[in-house]
Amino acid sequence: MNKFWRCGAGLALLASASLAFAEFPDKPVTLVVPFAAGGPSDKIARDLAEALRKPLGQTVIVENAAGAGGTIGSTKVARAAPDGYTLLLHHIGMATAPALYRKLSYKVPEDFETLGLINEAPSVVIGKPMLAANNFAELRQWIASNGGKVNLAHAGLGSASHLCGLMFQSALKTSMTPVPYKGTAPAMTDLIGGQVDLMCEQATNAVPQIEGKKVKVYGITSLKRLPLPSLKDAPTLSEAGLADFNVQVWHGLYAPRGTPPAVLAKLNAALRVALKDPDLIKREEALGLTVVSDERLEPAGHRKHLEAEKARWSKVIKDAGEYAD
Ligand code: MLT
Repeated sequence: MNKFWRCGAGLALLASASLAFAEFPDKPVTLVVPFAAGGPSDKIARDLAEALRKPLGQTVIVENAAGAGGTIGSTKVARAAPDGYTLLLHHIGMATAPALYRKLSYKVPEDFETLGLINEAPSVVIGKPMLAANNFAELRQWIASNGGKVNLAHAGLGSASHLCGLMFQSALKTSMTPVPYKGTAPAMTDLIGGQVDLMCEQATNAVPQIEGKKVKVYGITSLKRLPLPSLKDAPTLSEAGLADFNVQVWHGLYAPRGTPPAVLAKLNAALRVALKDPDLIKREEALGLTVVSDERLEPAGHRKHLEAEKARWSKVIKDAGEYAD
């Protein structure tokens, strides 16, 4: 092939590639959730998938790839074709996995394109229903006198409840006995049944149990109280004496590294429309979630937040000495 023809063929290839991106998406998009079906992240993903359908003009299929604190699903997306058809919805665990897992098969943030944050979800400190303490001051007293005998449930290494529990112990300057479960559902079942004492769980999962009076609530982990009827008397931990305590689980949307800019722009535009959907906002607010500010909806704002959270948590995790090989 001479130079002229080679150049012509190259231009034709480029033109057909940009045409393909212009038509994106022309088939269903898969949204990988790295946690089990029925859990808090899955719930958010299913609501978001529905809200994305209209702006994308395509169905968004939720796929649960659970295990190893979200790292199995994240690995899957890091290795997927960077064409915009495989996305990842992940929570704060995206920022903490590099400190928690010694052998991680992907790099954060390098192996992903950040598409924008989705929401922030405060957690709540909840206790088994038969616990004698009726408020945070009494709980603190009870923890102080029982020390390492207090059981603290969590949904597995790298889960939001694990991370919040680490921060809670560090703020109280105490160590409890961690009880890891394989997910939020069995941890909550044992808390309700009284087999474990406490858990620091995402409001998304805890609010229905608080409303049903199946667990006791002691405090909210964000700096603002939650405007939900079942939490109207629950103080923030900061108000209750743990100055500046602030743990927010946040969710973000990701694509594999190398996804073309035109596709990323379309996905970000669709995410912005989806997050203004009144039905989605109503459903999120009922669970104590808040949709993020416009600045964090930008890929760059999302990346900045991810990097700041990675730095903040790596110290907490290092101090706690909890990691997996
Ligand atoms: C889930 O959806 O199972 C949770 O977000 C897991 C967790 O607590 O981190």
